[in-house]
Order: sequence, then structure tokens, then C-alpha cells
Amino acid sequence: MTFEFDKIIDRTNTSSSKWTKYDRPDIIPMWVADMDFETAPCIKSALLERINHGIYGYTQPPEELSSTVATYLKTEFNWAIDTDWIIWLPSLVVGLNVVSRAFAEEGDAILSNTPIYPPFLSAPTYGNRETITAPLVWSGTKWAMDFDALEKTVTKKTKAFLFCSPHNPTGRVWNSKELNELVAFCHKHNLTIISDEIHAGLILDQDKTHTVTANLPDAADISVTLLSASKTFNMPGLGCAYAVVKNPTLRNKLKKVMNGIVHHVGALGYTATLAAYKEGKPWHAALVNYLRLNRDYVEGDLSAHDQLTVYHSEATYLTWIDARRMNVDNPSTYFEQFGIGLYDGAPFGAPGFLRLNFACPQSVLREAIQRINKGLEALT
Ligand SMILES: Cc1ncc(COP(=O)(O)O)c(C=O)c1O
Repeated sequence: MTFEFDKIIDRTNTSSSKWTKYDRPDIIPMWVADMDFETAPCIKSALLERINHGIYGYTQPPEELSSTVATYLKTEFNWAIDTDWIIWLPSLVVGLNVVSRAFAEEGDAILSNTPIYPPFLSAPTYGNRETITAPLVWSGTKWAMDFDALEKTVTKKTKAFLFCSPHNPTGRVWNSKELNELVAFCHKHNLTIISDEIHAGLILDQDKTHTVTANLPDAADISVTLLSASKTFNMPGLGCAYAVVKNPTLRNKLKKVMNGIVHHVGALGYTATLAAYKEGKPWHAALVNYLRLNRDYVEGDLSAHDQLTVYHSEATYLTWIDARRMNVDNPSTYFEQFGIGLYDGAPFGAPGFLRLNFACPQSVLREAIQRINKGLEALT
């Protein structure tokens, strides 16, 4: 079966966050993490069927959905879970915020690595918890966690580690050795591991696989895993995510914080997630192949420029770029003049860096890269 990733779809009439950000219609938006591809046909037809029913009342998670999630996690990641470990959430960012309140008290601290997806930095502070960070380090071949820096940052008040795996924005796929070191660190300091694994379905390097942090020895009882089909199947606008929590004490703490505040998932979110996990595999395989080609094109072309350091994305559809050698005040606003909307690194804790979303048709990507090239040539 073939899928139409080359098709250009006008999104300007859909109030898309990605496409309404810029006042200038000629800017190609490559900032927020959603894809300019239609979702899998099996998801679209499941949604159409649900929509045709015509009644959209309050909806429970379909019974089949929890067992489908369990089968999916076992098949994809070799992770065996019980269905009652699942807590449904209307979005993963909601998850980051409620876990920050559930596993640390006001005045406590929550640890993260920078650069990091910005809600990791804001979620603790929104609940009057402190965000503390230690930077990832560039080892010469890959971004790595710096456990010496983490040891220096962690305090007695630190109660949880907000962890991103695979990592947004660097695209790292953490290996078992790195994850085991993280688990040992969290045990040593009595930290709950909050592992956001929303990008787990987007492993691009063919020699790498996603390891669920909670599936490592000694990790399950101190872990909360946050997941969603929304990144992999391009349906973040439908609002469906979930936490998987084995330890009943942690699960109850999380449920207690959510009570009466966190809205349930909408009917369409459940329907789409069920279709994605049950029938989405062929589309997903084709997507990953398409994204890999786009990634290689971006990395191959932009690495030729002395002004940029372009990091290899092992996973995700995001390229992380050090643009500090461009010597401009703000590289993202600079590129807007050339018709490209990149994500500024500052909210990730890395001013001077850029994040580029390459999940778009190849013809659009080629045009975008040409514009970036023009912007760089104008500096020389
Ligand atoms: C690491 C990570 N977590 C969470 C989210 C957002 O998830 P949601 O749309 O379910 O809130 C994103 C979106 O880019 C992300 O990259």
C-alpha cells in the first residue's frame, strides 16, 4: 500500500497553530512538532464512522482500547503492562503538569536536562515547584547525560526527574546503559522518574530501538511513563494521551491530583488512538521511511555550512542546530526574513540554537532548505 506523503495540503484554513503563528503567509512554518501529512487512512475512516453516528456524548475509554494499548506496547517495545496501570489524559503536557504536582510538594524541586521541550521547564513552576536543570553534554559524537553535573544539581528538595526519551530536541535514542545509569541515579536520590516517551514511535536510525525506561530492572516501581499516539500518527489536535504507572501508590497520588480538574479524553481522541494502534502499522512504517529521507536531506545539506552545527537526529522529525556561529542576535527571527519559521532554542534553555521540523512533503522541504541557504549566504 502506498501513502501520499508528497501531497501538499493547505492547512491555512484550519486554524492550525503551526500555520497561524506567522503574520506573513509566505513563511514556511517549521517550528511546532506536528506534521504536514494526512494521518493514516485507517484513522481517518474510524473518525468518519464515529462522526457519522451523530451523537458525541460523554465517553468512557472503550474497553478494547486498554487491551489494544497493552498489546501495542508489548509488540512495539517488548513492555508487558496490566491495563489497570493506564491513566487516560487529555494531553501529555497536562500529564507533565499533574505529575509535577503529584510527585513533589510546593517548594520542592524537579530536575530536567537542558535543552528540553519547553513545558518540562514550565510545568514545575506553574505548580510552585522549582525547576532545576543540568545541561546535556556533547561528547563529540552524541548528546549525553552528564551525571557529574546532575549530582551537583540535585538537592534534598529534589523529588522527581522529568525525562524525555527519545529526546526532544536533540533526537537522542537513549541506550540501556544510559537508562540504567539514570535509574540508579534516581534510586540513589529517591526521585520519581517521569519519562515522557511520546516520540517512541519515531525511531529513524535502523540500528536503534526504543527502550522503555520503566521496563528496566528496578525502574518500574519508581516510574511514571507518559505516552500518546498523537506524535507518531499526527493527531495532536484530538487530545488523547495516557500515563502508565505500575506502582499503585504513585498511581493513586496521580489520580488524586487529577480529580475534578483534569478533563476526560474526547470521543474522537479515543477512536483515533484505537484505530492507530490496531491498524496503523503499514502507514507508520512508510512514514518512518519518508522521515528518514527528509532527515538525511536536511543533515546532508545544512552540514555543509560553517555557520551551523547540525546534530544527527536518531529519532523524532526534528533537527537540532547550533546557530551561534551565525553571529546574529536571534537566528530564528533572522531566518523569518528569508521565509522560514524555525523554533528558537531559548525556550528550550539553549539561546542561539534552532529546532527545525522536517515532517513535510519533500518539495516543501527542498524549498525551505534553499531559503535557509540563501539566509546563510547573505551573511558571508
Ligand atoms: C516531548 C514532548 N512531550 C509532549 C508534547 C506535547 O504533547 P501533547 O500535545 O499531548 O500535550 C510534545 C510535543 O511536541 C513533545 O515533544
